Amino acid sequence: ALAQIGVTGLAVMGRNLARNFARNGFTVAVHNRSPQKMHSLVEEHGSEGDFIGAESLEDFVASLEKPRKVVVMVQAGGPTDAVIDALTPLLDQGDIIVDAGNALYTDTMRREKDLAAKGLHFVGSGVSGGEEGALLGPSIMPGGPAESYVTLGPILEKIAAKAEDGTPCCVHIGPDGAGHFVKMVHNGIEYADMQLIGEAYDLLRTGLDLEPAEIADIFAEWNQGDLESFLIEITAEVLRQTDARTGKALVDVIKDEAGQKGTGRWTVKSALDLGVPVTGIAEATFARAISSQVAQRQAARGVLAAHTEPFALEDREAFVEDVRLALYASKVVAYAQGFDQIQAASEEFGWNIVKGDMAKIWREGCIIRARFLDRITEAFERDASLPSLLVDPYFVDAVANGVSSWRRVVAQSALTGVPAPAFSSSLAYYDSLRAERLPAALIQGQRDFFGAHTYKRIDGEGTFHTLWSGDRSEVEA
Ligand code: 6PG
Repeated sequence: ALAQIGVTGLAVMGRNLARNFARNGFTVAVHNRSPQKMHSLVEEHGSEGDFIGAESLEDFVASLEKPRKVVVMVQAGGPTDAVIDALTPLLDQGDIIVDAGNALYTDTMRREKDLAAKGLHFVGSGVSGGEEGALLGPSIMPGGPAESYVTLGPILEKIAAKAEDGTPCCVHIGPDGAGHFVKMVHNGIEYADMQLIGEAYDLLRTGLDLEPAEIADIFAEWNQGDLESFLIEITAEVLRQTDARTGKALVDVIKDEAGQKGTGRWTVKSALDLGVPVTGIAEATFARAISSQVAQRQAARGVLAAHTEPFALEDREAFVEDVRLALYASKVVAYAQGFDQIQAASEEFGWNIVKGDMAKIWREGCIIRARFLDRITEAFERDASLPSLLVDPYFVDAVANGVSSWRRVVAQSALTGVPAPAFSSSLAYYDSLRAERLPAALIQGQRDFFGAHTYKRIDGEGTFHTLWSGDRSEVEA
């Protein structure tokens, strides 16, 4: 029998995806550049389902039923191009190549165009959920031509995570780069979420002088409520971990220099191009960058004046609750901004992305899965063209409930010198959105002064310029 789907690139993610296909009853062809990985997969997991191992790309392609569906799971960039180039001459019109790695969406757009010209379908697909998700059910975000989804979609939906109501966490996002774009923003939100949790931890630790294990208990408790999410859950586990070598909390022996493979940075770059403020994601990305600026940190430590004040905490429990509410509110901001960015890209590239669908497929399987995604799903069901998640009635109330707490936490952060860049910039964003007037009017005046960049007036149509170096009268531009 021929295989219904093939996977090439059998590192951890590819291997687990292949097993997931097999465990769901699909005959899956497997291939790896060095055949050893293919053989070990078939040896170790052959009993889980039907695998067809192939040593060469030619045999691999020949073992697939038509239209062929090949999932490529190799490193983004050059390695992905190399595999695509090797596969292309072996495929026929209508065959489908799925790039399931974290590719840059502009690369995906380029590849889709190239392959479409050859009569092939190219599907750039986000896959989230890490190693375990790949095996047990990830959240899948496929882009590419709608036509490809007719045959590919049902297979992906079968192996995807399922939401509580049974809906698969997989939907056709839109054409060409839409799937990878959405995965990129997913990762940006992941960065923001992680940074916000980190700031909450830092404030609790310093403010209340708690041990990591005690903060783990607080996070575990938060995980019973509105904040319930995979990231909060694993945070509690990380904080509870003891280092076998020293007996200390593991978190205290890990170097405080955060790494990043690039998706957060890509999100911020794209947001700049689109003109969408994703301040939460940007702060999170920069916070990782600051943590890794070893030389600057070393030079500044003990040198820069502090003039901090001690935490003013009459009520410890009230502070914990303040931090919880600040975290929730800041999280709403990060998601609102991420959805704005998806909306902007969808308009820019003509992708017609349905935002409610994004919220739905992020409910399970992915790294940012959270109870909160149900609320976002409902918000977009109420109004598909919601101008901002923050103005949905549910979120208006939910954030209103925490605004005072949020302000107190940001104020404490400033006074005590415990940095909370994502908390504070999210609050600033919130206040900017709700402001009656912004100092942007003054900026327009300044621009007009030095560059005759003109301005508009609040009391009528038209564009104006003040003759700053003349008699300072106003002229219509
Ligand atoms: C996922 C993750 C996954 C990966 C990130 C980590 O959705 O399963 O987002 O894609 O863990 O790329 O990114 P950094 O290494 O940049 O933190």
